[in-house]
Amino acid sequence: MQIARSIPEMKALRSKCVESVGFVPTMGYLHEGHIELVRVARRDNPVAVVSIFVNPTQFAPNEDYKAYPRDLDRDLSVLDKVKTGIVFIPDSDEMYAGGYNTWVDVQGITGKLEGKSRPTHFRGVTTICNKLFNIVQPDKAYFGQKDAQQALVIQKMVADLNMNLEVIVCPTIREKDGLAMSSRNTYLTDSERLSAPVLYRSLCMARDMFAKGERDAGIIRKAMADLISQEPAAKIDYVSIADMQTLDEVDTIKSKALVSLAVRLGKPRLIDNIVLG
Ligand code: PAF
Repeated sequence: MQIARSIPEMKALRSKCVESVGFVPTMGYLHEGHIELVRVARRDNPVAVVSIFVNPTQFAPNEDYKAYPRDLDRDLSVLDKVKTGIVFIPDSDEMYAGGYNTWVDVQGITGKLEGKSRPTHFRGVTTICNKLFNIVQPDKAYFGQKDAQQALVIQKMVADLNMNLEVIVCPTIREKDGLAMSSRNTYLTDSERLSAPVLYRSLCMARDMFAKGERDAGIIRKAMADLISQEPAAKIDYVSIADMQTLDEVDTIKSKALVSLAVRLGKPRLIDNIVLG
């Protein structure tokens, strides 16, 4: 496994790759969800490149940029085991060199769901992904369905800017009790961790209601919110049933719909989703 710490190092390693390159951008503190993305990237391409960069521009000043969990040694050892070809570990000065002043902003869908609570988040994500794509020049880039809106925003950016890569979205990897894997799960206290599977339980309930023929999105949203509210620590940010492309809330589920939610359990804010139909 080769490690690049600077942009020229990464570009030099990339220029030696003659076959297709699969890319998994991450912020580190890797869990099984990330590792599965690397496995898929390795299966599809001779070379998998993983970036580890906690991107400051996607955190608002009141968010957890400084506290975001980091463990580079452990990440590198895990990546080595799954035969990652190249790991790119730039620092902030490398990615946002003095006077940095260029932003990539997907309009519309970024103002909904996560974008309502985190208005500057997606601009940071699209800007860093754009930069990483330019540096790594992947043939395919791999994202998790857990961050469904992020995946949609990246797909839109890639299509709108005619970028020469394919975005692959891989299924959410879950703990045994259904909690979607996330580096931020580490923030949960023991009692919050016990409450956390309520997110997935509410999604499963939505799936069951849909399977039994319920198509009224309002009824499903309310049932989900009622279930979550039974956990005293849970504070709902949103429960959404939205169109898969526009992310506009739907009244009636006609074909496919994205069911997603964000819930605070104490301090940590968890998100999850499933697709209906
Ligand atoms: O999903 C993440 O970990 C981040 O948003 C990403 C895509 C690596 C960009 O910093």
